[in-house]
Amino acid sequence: MTEQKRPPRAIGASGLSCFPIGLGCASLSGSYGPSDDDNALRVLHEARARGVTMFDTSDKYGNGHNEELLARAFGNARNSVLIASKFGNMAGKDGKVADNNPETIKAFCEASLERLKSDCIDLYYIHRIDPAVAIEDTIGAMSRLVEQGKVRALGICEVNPTTLRRAHKVHPIAAIQSEYSILYRAEAEDVLQTTRELGVAFVAYAPLGRGLLTGAVQPGSLGDKDERLRHPRFSAENLPKNLELAQAVQQVATERGCTAGQVSLAWLLAQGEDIIPIPGTKTLSRLVENIEAASIILSDAEIGFIASSIPPDAAAGLRYRAEHMKNMYL
Ligand SMILES: NC(=O)c1ccc[n+]([C@@H]2O[C@H](COP(=O)([O-])OP(=O)(O)OC[C@H]3O[C@@H](n4cnc5c(N)ncnc54)[C@H](OP(=O)(O)O)[C@@H]3O)[C@@H](O)[C@H]2O)c1
Repeated sequence: MTEQKRPPRAIGASGLSCFPIGLGCASLSGSYGPSDDDNALRVLHEARARGVTMFDTSDKYGNGHNEELLARAFGNARNSVLIASKFGNMAGKDGKVADNNPETIKAFCEASLERLKSDCIDLYYIHRIDPAVAIEDTIGAMSRLVEQGKVRALGICEVNPTTLRRAHKVHPIAAIQSEYSILYRAEAEDVLQTTRELGVAFVAYAPLGRGLLTGAVQPGSLGDKDERLRHPRFSAENLPKNLELAQAVQQVATERGCTAGQVSLAWLLAQGEDIIPIPGTKTLSRLVENIEAASIILSDAEIGFIASSIPPDAAAGLRYRAEHMKNMYL
């Protein structure tokens, strides 16, 4: 197997950089079924010990629990990790989900800082864009957090090229975070042209297709508290089709003597030095496996074989349910 230690990856022009693979922490607060804090702390400590530096959270994950967990894990070593958090995806009293109101952003940030027991968030994202607020106003409010030293760099999730350009004019955007995997990549490939022109990093969420690309999810295997049951890609009709597509990844993995998850991450890393995948796991052995993927270099033939076997629009089922898709790629 071709292995090579990859250098850290820059987070846009912010001056921040991180290990090429970050840790997505959402499932450590129950998004994919129950999670145990003691186990979660072991996963977080092991990730740090093995060189992972970027930890991805949000005020939404476990309604603040996830940020508190990171504070417990890294309280004494806060400066040795890079914490990325997000705001604007919590259901308000009026049921509205995305809230990018400049007046409330400061309060969101203060609440996250308190939970993180920190005086600064390294990378602060808009989690969901609120169409009722001009992006210039939202970024303006976020740039004041940078001026006050509460935030180091700014990011936006699920942003389209037009909105990204408008945002970047107000304050440099260090990173965008959007779904990007072999299975779901049409929008990512579209926005990448703009991120590259502007020098913005691409943090790839759900890089394992929410577990689908690893082969670990099979019909009937998801627990009844697992939010993936509501995702179209896992429906009884779509899952077998998507598992069939994922066979190409497994084929390369078998030939190379590694796992399908590792091939999925190595494929993303090969798309450019601006790509930073953030797989999530509650399992120590999978954490180690995912980190080791940072050293796997796929050949051009392997990269091409996977891309042609799974064309950008091949996935069965939308990325989210139709009513949620309207909040994406705005
Ligand atoms: N900005 C946004 O809107 C947004 C949306 C979604 C996610 N995210 C971020 O992206 C992170 C990652 O996304 P995700 O967790 O949804 O999807 P993912 O990383 O594509 O997949 C995670 C799933 O794959 C499994 N898994 C992980 N490593 C594995 C391995 N080596 N072998 C087999 N299975 C493996 C995990 O199970 P186990 O836990 O059992 O190992 C988990 O069920 C989240 O934690 C969050 O930080 C952001």
